Amino acid sequence: MSQLYVHREPISGPGAWRAADVHADQSWIYTLTAADIGELERAIAQAKKEGLPTTAIRSRHFPLPSFAAKIAQVWRQLEHGRGMAIVRGVPVDRYDPEDLELFYWGISTHLGIVIPQNSKGDLIGRVEDTGVKWGEVRNGEIMRGYVTNATLPFHSDTGDVAALLCVRQAKLGGLTSVVSSSAIFNEILANEPDLLETLFTGFYYSLRGENGGGVNQVSSYRIPVFDYCDGNLNGRYIRRTIQTAAKMGGPALTDLELRALDAMEKYSNSDELRFDMMMEPGDIQYVNNFIVLHSRTQFEDYEEPARKRLMIRVWLQVPQGRTLSRPHETLFGEKTPFLTRAQAMAKEGLVAA
Ligand SMILES: [Fe+2]
Repeated sequence: MSQLYVHREPISGPGAWRAADVHADQSWIYTLTAADIGELERAIAQAKKEGLPTTAIRSRHFPLPSFAAKIAQVWRQLEHGRGMAIVRGVPVDRYDPEDLELFYWGISTHLGIVIPQNSKGDLIGRVEDTGVKWGEVRNGEIMRGYVTNATLPFHSDTGDVAALLCVRQAKLGGLTSVVSSSAIFNEILANEPDLLETLFTGFYYSLRGENGGGVNQVSSYRIPVFDYCDGNLNGRYIRRTIQTAAKMGGPALTDLELRALDAMEKYSNSDELRFDMMMEPGDIQYVNNFIVLHSRTQFEDYEEPARKRLMIRVWLQVPQGRTLSRPHETLFGEKTPFLTRAQAMAKEGLVAA
């Protein structure tokens, strides 16, 4: 077994931001111009001529001769900048649901490879309240937070990048927040450095029944909360799934582990670190899961089904994404219903460099 490396130097650079830094900097917000939208609409028309289902569309079917340069800027922001970006101004009311999906999907194909978000293989996910309870077991699966109206505390999604297109806001609540994992690391290094070894060692995760092995299945190895790899600090944290693993199938959490999780909770929610934003209809929020954590508050919907809060989600693996250590690369093991970056690239006929 390789020896654990615990990084003990502060992290600097644009990814180690605090709330005031991103308030003062709007360069991570990209507003669509009329010319961008015109180009995207021509790409939609072109893609439709292919006669393919939306999820079979690839970037070659969706030509973006000028806008592709803006997508490349979004990627640089996600990987080398703040680890998050907003693309603002998708005219969500102008299109029928099929064209809106194609608009969003088409942009996604220029950013990376879309991967499934659950064992059913959904590539385009609806984040909305379906009336189920978070954590209840239905048909051998543990219901996930994104199909409820519950507060979702700070966490990472699966894959390199998670994207959310806001179609409709809630009547009340549903505030999104983002926090830099490196900024949390810096606080823990400064204030509670005795917790770092536990956080670099990591935790077992519940597989939530998604691997077909039953609800008690947990990851076969610990997944680090912080991992220093190839000159980057990478974060990965879902307290709820760690606690589910400890309750169902995995070893109980020690006092030190609970203290480490409490510290993650405390610093991720701190006013100095956390950045809040209310997503507006037409905003696409992109996050690099290894650089930032995200959360959203509980919400209350309007009565009418057509007015209920709706976010459309895609998860992306990015071929030119940062180097990851094995536990971060294969989060759900080799037989993942999601696709690792290497698996996603192989499926698309791309080979890792
Ligand atoms: Fe999420």
